[in-house]
Amino acid sequence: MNEFYQKDIFSIKDYTKEQLETIFTYTDKIMQLSLSERREICKGKILGYLFYEPSTRTRLSFESAMASIGGNSLGISDITSSSTQKGESLADTVRIMSIYSDVLVLRHPLDGSSRFAAEISDKPVINAGSGTEEHPTQAIQDLFTIKKEKKKIDGLKIGIVGDLKYGRTVYSLLHGLGNYDVDVNLISPESLRIRSDSTYEIKRKLDFTETTDIEEHLDELDVLYVTRIQKERFPDEEEYLKVKGSYVVGLDMLKRMKDDAIILHPLPRIDEISADVDKTKNAKYFEQAEYGKYTRSALLGMILNENSF
Ligand code: CP
Repeated sequence: MNEFYQKDIFSIKDYTKEQLETIFTYTDKIMQLSLSERREICKGKILGYLFYEPSTRTRLSFESAMASIGGNSLGISDITSSSTQKGESLADTVRIMSIYSDVLVLRHPLDGSSRFAAEISDKPVINAGSGTEEHPTQAIQDLFTIKKEKKKIDGLKIGIVGDLKYGRTVYSLLHGLGNYDVDVNLISPESLRIRSDSTYEIKRKLDFTETTDIEEHLDELDVLYVTRIQKERFPDEEEYLKVKGSYVVGLDMLKRMKDDAIILHPLPRIDEISADVDKTKNAKYFEQAEYGKYTRSALLGMILNENSF
C-alpha cells in the first residue's frame, strides 16, 4: 500500500527526504502519462476546497490537477458568499465539506487550522496555507522545481529574499531544504528576519547565513527565491511602508549572478521582480507555477489511491 494513502498534509516537517523523493518520482510519472491515462487516476473522486483567504494559484492548480486526473472539485473560494456569513463555525463547515468530498483543501489565516480541521473531517485534509506558519504543498512544488531545473538539490547555494518574517512559503521551504545538503543565504530587511521562535529548529537541520545586503552572496547563488512583502500581515501600515520595495530583482542584478542561476517566486509578485526579467532564461517562476499542478496531481493521486498508479 502506498504510505500517503488517506493521509493528511499538515506540514513539510512531517516528510523525510525519501518521502519527498517518492512524491517527485510520482510527479515525474504523472508528467509522462498520456492525458487519457492521467484521467483514470482519480476518476469519480471529489476534491472539496475551503479558502478563508484569497488565492489564485493554489486553488486553481488544485482544481486543474484534480480535473486532469479525472476528478471534480467543489468548494468555497469566497467565504463571504458562504454560510460563514451567517455565523457558521469552521468546524461545522469542515464537517459538511467532508460529507460532500473525498479530500479537503483548506486555506485559513490561523496557524494550526488544518490540524484542527482534520480532527473534525473523516476525509484527508491538505493544508493550502495556514497563517504565517506553513504552506507545505508550495514547498513540495518549490523543491520539485529546483530539482527539475537544476537537476539536483544537494550541493546548491540558495538565496531567499524578501519577507522572511511573515512569508509562510519561506518556513515550509526552509524545513523542506533541511532534508538536503544546501547552503542557504537569507536576505531581508532587519525587521523582516525569520522569526526567532523558528530559528532554533531550522538551524538544527540547515546551514544558513543572514544579511540585509542582497549583493553580498549574489554571484555565488544557484537559486534566488524571491518573496513578496506581505502587506496584509503587518499589524501597522507604517512598518510596511518602511520596508516596501526593499529589494527589486532586475536585469542589472541578474547580470551579476551565475549564468545558469534560476529565479523563483511563489507568486503573487508585486514589484520585487521587474517584468523584464520574465523573458530571461533565468526566470523560472511561471514554470514553478506549472509544476505545482503536477505535484498536486501526484499528491491527490497518492492520497486517494491505495496502490501506486
Ligand atoms: N503561491 C500561492 O500560494 O499563490 P496563491 O496565494 O495565489 O494561491
